[in-house]
Amino acid sequence: MTTTIIEPFKIKSVEPINFTTRGYREKAIKEAFYNLFLLKADDVLIDLLTDSGTAAMSSRQWAAMMDGDESYAGSRSFYKFEKVVKDLTGLSTVIPTHQGRAAEKILFTVLGGPGKVIPSNTHFDTTRANVEFSGATAVDLPVDSALKTDTRSDFKGNMDLDKLEDLIKRTGVANIPLCILTVTNNSVGGQPVSMKNIRATRALLNKYGIPLFLDACRFAENAFFIKLREPGYEDKTVRDIAREMFSYADGCTMSAKKDALVNIGGFLALNDEAVAEKARSLLIMTEGFPTYGGLAGRDLEAIAQGLIEVLDEDYLKYRIRSVEYFGDKLEKAGVPVLVPTGGHAVFLDAKRFLPDIPPHQYPGQAIAVEMYLEAGIRSVEIGSVMFGREKDGKFEEASLELVRLAIPRRVYTQSHIDFAAEAIIQVFKRRSKIPGYRITYEPPYLRHFTAHFEPLVKEAATVRL
Ligand SMILES: Cc1ncc(COP(=O)(O)O)c(C=O)c1O
Repeated sequence: MTTTIIEPFKIKSVEPINFTTRGYREKAIKEAFYNLFLLKADDVLIDLLTDSGTAAMSSRQWAAMMDGDESYAGSRSFYKFEKVVKDLTGLSTVIPTHQGRAAEKILFTVLGGPGKVIPSNTHFDTTRANVEFSGATAVDLPVDSALKTDTRSDFKGNMDLDKLEDLIKRTGVANIPLCILTVTNNSVGGQPVSMKNIRATRALLNKYGIPLFLDACRFAENAFFIKLREPGYEDKTVRDIAREMFSYADGCTMSAKKDALVNIGGFLALNDEAVAEKARSLLIMTEGFPTYGGLAGRDLEAIAQGLIEVLDEDYLKYRIRSVEYFGDKLEKAGVPVLVPTGGHAVFLDAKRFLPDIPPHQYPGQAIAVEMYLEAGIRSVEIGSVMFGREKDGKFEEASLELVRLAIPRRVYTQSHIDFAAEAIIQVFKRRSKIPGYRITYEPPYLRHFTAHFEPLVKEAATVRL
């Protein structure tokens, strides 16, 4: 019997990638102020910046796009999309948006606001930004194991229910308009949330009458982990597991750029008609008419088809195993990775990788720059650049210093991953020579996207800035 898990597709169309020299990359990264978001994509060889919007679409998705109905109102493509989303989520109103954060912006404009508190297992950066922009407070309540990068546990994405109940009691039900569970939990390493935890969160919120929303961008990967790891789910289909996950929710936001296998799109789905009414008014102002919401009819077609394909268990088996393969390879070479590997990315633990570089000198950013210099690999820091801040003149560090190597869906082959692993192992071997960084410019919100950095002189790396 064969045991190798292969890509469950063959390749019909290819896109060249560009090889550059180290000298070229040194100049390119300097010109990008050592911020990998500011690089030109053509200067990147293997792009692991994000799994968002970077999927390869299938021939069926491309075919469906040709069938897109571009009518301004009442498009056939909308009804197809709406039916697929309703069948999956069981939620009664579906509002398309151009991507996940647009759904978040609308949701928190309606339900957030000053004095409100939004608990989550961990807010993603755009979710947190939209909560805070509304004047509300975003509170992360992950289980303690989420913060231990070297300890294996099946559901490190879970919500800490004791902390949640404590927060509800301290804050008062009236100030908590909803609670949001991110599945999988991106910011703690793409770790799954168990069905038991979703169910228990729901039960606790029921006690207080607080609605539960899912940030569902990676719902299929989460459902597959439940099938693999949670007793009682091994014989259920991923589709049934996903439907059960959604059955506990009053609503969801979704970035279709992840598990809907498309390059753009998202939606907000919910049961509360009064909230939906307000959301649709905002949608018309900022996104578009409710039957297209910032998307073309062809985009809605691609999402509808992607949401069906992503539940294919051969695809999910390949997806989860190929990410694990990458993590295993690094771990075997001694590179500190977050274990177990999550659904969409391998996360390097920058604190263990560069123990001499303190959080305020951004060890994750230092590793990300070095991997680009080594072999043109682009990744992203998820640590104190993204979540740290200066408060009252004091530096507040992030709870984890990670570097995320996100794997675009159906894009890279095993040899791309082997190459990337080889390059990362080289960087790890010369880690003592890697300098820390300081920020020379930052905007008021979401600074990691546009901040400028400067390497510190290595000898001065322990001096507090
Ligand atoms: C967990 C999570 N929520 C929300 C978003 C925002 O989605 P989008 O990029 O489509 O706005 C992302 C994007 O990476 C995410 O990972």
